[in-house]
Amino acid sequence: MDELLNILSGIADDGNQSWRTLPPAAYHSDALFELERERIFNAGWICIGRADQVTDCGDYLSIDVVGEPLVMVRDKEGVLRVFSNVCRHRWMRVCQGAGNAGSLVCPYHAWTYNLDGSLRAAPEMDQTPDFDIGTTSLPQVHHEVWEGFVYVNLDGNAKPLTPQLQSITTRISEYKLDQWRVAATVDCGEYPWDWKVMQDNGECYHHYGAHSETFQIDYPARDVITECDDAWILQVAPSSKSSRRIGDDGLEYSPGNFEPGSGLADWQRTSFTLIYVLPNFFIYLQADMGMNLRMLPLGAGRIHLLADVILPPQAFMVSDFEQRLSTCVEFFKRFNEEDVAVNIGVQDGSHSKFAGSAPLSHLEAHNRHIAWWVASRLTKQVT
Ligand code: FES
Ligand SMILES: [Fe+2]
Repeated sequence: MDELLNILSGIADDGNQSWRTLPPAAYHSDALFELERERIFNAGWICIGRADQVTDCGDYLSIDVVGEPLVMVRDKEGVLRVFSNVCRHRWMRVCQGAGNAGSLVCPYHAWTYNLDGSLRAAPEMDQTPDFDIGTTSLPQVHHEVWEGFVYVNLDGNAKPLTPQLQSITTRISEYKLDQWRVAATVDCGEYPWDWKVMQDNGECYHHYGAHSETFQIDYPARDVITECDDAWILQVAPSSKSSRRIGDDGLEYSPGNFEPGSGLADWQRTSFTLIYVLPNFFIYLQADMGMNLRMLPLGAGRIHLLADVILPPQAFMVSDFEQRLSTCVEFFKRFNEEDVAVNIGVQDGSHSKFAGSAPLSHLEAHNRHIAWWVASRLTKQVT
């Protein structure tokens, strides 16, 4: 571990000028994952879903983030709250999955919480010394909503997220993403690769190989532009001329299934955009639809992947909505399978005694930034 941290410290110090990945051991080290848990996932901003998934009073959605059970709830005043989903009695998960309820009732001994997290009822606890129902509540977790996406910060000490994303907010304002809604969630379950393997797979260079039959045809790897800032990475992938469709307004659009929004800039109509909010979340954005991918680490070399299809309001109004949505989900599953194969291969390869820190192409500025970003979080005091 000391040797690994020394290498990471060197990458952090030189800004990763060498265009190389992290060493292979960083992708499967249990000790390093424990450090990531503390310095990256507890300290950073983690997306847990969309505010539109809990629109009505009593709506709730539970999710585990690096081993922390959480639940997002819309309370009686319409305020979105995020709580620890661990019962204050004997640690059972209070809410399971998603649903709507007037109060949150733990299934174990029926302790009942109000939607603001305060404990309303706890059977037979009136004889327990030092127990005060009036001061017991589910702990609230620090959260922020940016463009409709709900982010939590587990240690409560992170710098506010929205100012860090201001430059992205300005550039994508025409989409009005805060009005979009989740149309479907694909729970891909557990995958046997590290969150950094999947994050590394965020470059578009692999259109050449893994997506030669899908993305490379419509979005050639060579044309993709990558821009990195501390908290985010933006990639814009222009569609090939031959793939474009003409909209009702006579303008060119990249391929899609739904009706694109109006008022988009030229590059927004004719590209797809990838917005990575570090450490482990990204949005795939087209003129007519988007996908949120939440790469939730379960340990070194293991993640839980959740993918949401998000759509603008007009997309829900067409008569063949279900058909179009299913085409969209099927397309996701197809290219995701292409990514599954390479992510498994890379994770396996990282254990080889012949594997070393890998050279990167100029189309992998994404990977270079991730390597530097991870290395600096793990070895420096980053505020
Ligand atoms: S663990 Fe929740 S009521 Fe006992
Ligand atoms: Fe891919």
